[in-house]
Amino acid sequence: MHPSSIVILDFGSQYVQLIARRIREQNVHSVVLPCTAKIDEIRAQNPIGIVLSGGPCSVYDAAAPPADPAVLSLGLPVLGICYGLQFIAHHLGGRVRSAEKREYGHAEVDVIDRENPLFAELPATMQVWMSHGDEALDLPAGFHLTAKTVNAVAGIVNPEKRIWAVQFHPEVHHTQLGTALLRNFLFKICGATPDWTPEHFIQSTVSSIREKVGDGRAICALSGGVDSSVAAVLVDRAIGDRLTCVFVNNGVLRKNEFEKVQQNLRDKLGLKLVAVDASKRFLGKLRGVTDPEGKRKIIGNEFIAVFDDEALRIAQESGGVGWLVQGTLYPDVIESSSVNGPSQTIKSHHNVGGLPEEMNLKLIEPLRDLFKDEVRRIGRDLGMPEDILQRQPFPGPGLGVRILGEVTAERVALLQEADEIVVTEIKNAGLYQHIWQSFAVLLPVKSVGVMGDQRTYAYTCAIRAVHSEDGMTADWVPLPYAVLKTISSRIVNEVRGINRVVYDITSKPPGTIEWE
Ligand code: XMP
Repeated sequence: MHPSSIVILDFGSQYVQLIARRIREQNVHSVVLPCTAKIDEIRAQNPIGIVLSGGPCSVYDAAAPPADPAVLSLGLPVLGICYGLQFIAHHLGGRVRSAEKREYGHAEVDVIDRENPLFAELPATMQVWMSHGDEALDLPAGFHLTAKTVNAVAGIVNPEKRIWAVQFHPEVHHTQLGTALLRNFLFKICGATPDWTPEHFIQSTVSSIREKVGDGRAICALSGGVDSSVAAVLVDRAIGDRLTCVFVNNGVLRKNEFEKVQQNLRDKLGLKLVAVDASKRFLGKLRGVTDPEGKRKIIGNEFIAVFDDEALRIAQESGGVGWLVQGTLYPDVIESSSVNGPSQTIKSHHNVGGLPEEMNLKLIEPLRDLFKDEVRRIGRDLGMPEDILQRQPFPGPGLGVRILGEVTAERVALLQEADEIVVTEIKNAGLYQHIWQSFAVLLPVKSVGVMGDQRTYAYTCAIRAVHSEDGMTADWVPLPYAVLKTISSRIVNEVRGINRVVYDITSKPPGTIEWE
């Protein structure tokens, strides 16, 4: 148990993990607990301060998340955010006006109490991301206003009880200087020590996995990407050889990927890795199939079948496997945690993709509270190679969704060559890490060309490069002409079978990132 934590009580806010992340960024330890946590559970975390998160409800809703109002009288500093403010006002005898609908937007806040430590060194006017909804009308006894917008309460405090609250969201990017405000709460008000580093995260995660798994065994499906690799390395630190990783060649990996991933994970990182070359099996099933969804289903189902076989074999050989490791990240967890929480596991099981039910595996998801860049930081501290950590996302169905029409061994080989050229040239131009994804797509369209004195009749290759935050929306990247020129001439000259290169200038929406 960490000697001092900030406890964040989750009232169902979509931002609760963002609050936790902002606190981690200050190297302060924090724990998210459901708002229904008992006072003893809160005390057990060695709290030095409490944050009450926002939430979708009104304090008047019958379904308003119940929290024990005793959290307000533990003598610890409290910071209420949005719903947290209304919870405080409502439970300490103030009056909250309920609104029909909650809205979010930019707002300008005037700081009234500039001497207040929460606003120390902050300007008199702040641009914030405000949630308009319920509003505190009458403040409870002992409270005064610290900040306001033109027509609403934006911040309150009871200095004696050491309770602060703001109506806006300091944790989101749109709130300028939101981090400075959180820092004031952590360091000036709670007296936090900035001693929670990635190394501490690693140590405490490793020891909690060790405790959880005991002398049990675990398996992990590796894709070669960042998330599953970092998760596997953490679990390997905890239980060593009792973790077996499975990496499947589905026939639609990138050039030399099957060998490269094995080198990285087995040789460099020392993972116990079973590499299964099932490419023939996959390509056999894909023969003659052109429908994009049909191809995805085949690759997905076949993966499950291969992984199931391996899992059962490993279980039989080693005397039982009780755990499955997954590299689920916070953005993968669709449902908000805790308040409406049971759906979390449903999503995770879908990720697993249908392991045999009789195996009854329990999940280990060491990264489920983290964001992608935090995972990279952890991976770096674990000593993992940069080429794993910086790898651009690669879809599960691999090149299968980048070869339009039928997937054949010949087409896979062509696309592997073209893809290799794209990745190499983007890396040479120093752009690889600044682009969300950059890749080649093989079109089943043949056109006429001329090379030397020869007429050619060959496939077309499309180049795609996009910027994105999370893959949900994306903008096409205007790659420098020089880079496009090199990619185009290298592909046409070096990849026999492709004689035309085109550039995809479609954003998402209306396009998708992958072509299928
Ligand atoms: P789309 O094509 O839907 O892709 O705009 C959004 C992001 O998701 C990736 N992607 C996948 N990742 N399994 C995956 O693991 C899949 O089936 C899959 N399909 C798309 C895609 O590469 C992009 O980053």
